[in-house]
Amino acid sequence: MTHPLPLARLGIVGGGQLARMLAPACHAYQVELNILDPLDQSPAAQAANGQIVGSLHDADALSALCAVSDVVTFDLENVGADMLVTLANQGVRMVPDPATVQLIQNKLEQKRHYKAHDIPTTAFEALDEPHALSQVERFGWPCVQKANTGGYDGRGVHILHSSADWPNRLLGPSFVEAYVPHATELAVMVATRASGEMVVYDPVEMVVDPELNLLDYLIAPARVPAEIAREAVQLARKTVASFGTPGLFGVELFVSADGDLWVNEVAPRAHNSGHHTIEACVTSQFENQLRACLDLPLGQTDLRAHALTMNLVGADGFEGRPVIEGLKWVSGLPDVHVHLYGKASCRPGRKMGHLTLLGQDHSGLIERANQIREQLFIRGEQAI
Ligand SMILES: Nc1ncnc2c1ncn2[C@@H]1O[C@H](COP(=O)(O)OP(=O)(O)OP(=O)(O)O)[C@@H](O)[C@H]1O
Ligand SMILES: [Mg+2]
Repeated sequence: MTHPLPLARLGIVGGGQLARMLAPACHAYQVELNILDPLDQSPAAQAANGQIVGSLHDADALSALCAVSDVVTFDLENVGADMLVTLANQGVRMVPDPATVQLIQNKLEQKRHYKAHDIPTTAFEALDEPHALSQVERFGWPCVQKANTGGYDGRGVHILHSSADWPNRLLGPSFVEAYVPHATELAVMVATRASGEMVVYDPVEMVVDPELNLLDYLIAPARVPAEIAREAVQLARKTVASFGTPGLFGVELFVSADGDLWVNEVAPRAHNSGHHTIEACVTSQFENQLRACLDLPLGQTDLRAHALTMNLVGADGFEGRPVIEGLKWVSGLPDVHVHLYGKASCRPGRKMGHLTLLGQDHSGLIERANQIREQLFIRGEQAI
């Protein structure tokens, strides 16, 4: 079979760091890359062939991206999915199917989907605002309130320990779900293509910063018994198969203290918990995302080493043009890989990049990560 080059024109809805990290795979395969993002010179546009500046919810902007793309994929799920469904129905190829993005962007609908497909997920109940307090009292404290739509990075998630937390609840359409105490959080990246071929990465363990509700670091492979890891892989396969669409998916799972597994949520795209795959796996999550988009055979997912990935987030007390401290030192360390996202300005807690460390064992990696944390900082130029 012969293929004319460039192999394809890929359009990405959203130009953040995930789309930026897909660019090297596009370059390797000689795929032309175009981005839609409201921000001129978005992180991904800096690495792409072109960018359309426009809203991810604007029908004209989405059509313009489709017009320069043979296949369209996503950097995030907060996009104008109903318009994308219309464009897909008109014959634009999209991976994954935008109907799945639409389903996933509503966490309550996502939970209902898992229930309907017999996929274990924690008990939940939609809140009916005028009666919500009495509903939650019946449901039981502690529980977790989640906004149906629009949440990310822990925004849109509120733990309700007791009625004292009620005044600070999230406003707007939401649901509550059972709180999983002392949960170990796993994530499993899965890629699948139209033929049904599916590849799965080893489960990774996500260690969450309890204050920011944001990933602190991830470690691969997860420190769980082999039996739990096998079950997590099976559950991730079943979950992704339930959507019936090709693409790359990040499946977030909770393991309870008793060893029960629950699906928390799914991202229909590359995911924070797969960043280590760039250096640590035979095929990165991004290359497999591209292969799924192009319907090419999927690459091997084997881990080549133990890995730890930590976010590089903006330091407190500063904002503005980003400055980095300790980069020279960190660049001198063996098997430490720096990724900066090209964001024009830095705010406290904003994800500005990440670092992946490779090694032979978990404790050595955690020790090295703690040393790096004391020396490497990213922050804005101005004090606030
Ligand atoms: N039912 C639960 N029991 C215990 N902890 C929970 C529960 N739901 C959420 N959390 C905690 O809150 C974090 C964020 O929740 P969730 O993944 O649903 O939100 P998110 O905003 O989509 O986050 P992200 O974008 O970081 O994935 C989880 O990683 C977990 O630490
Ligand atoms: Mg999550």
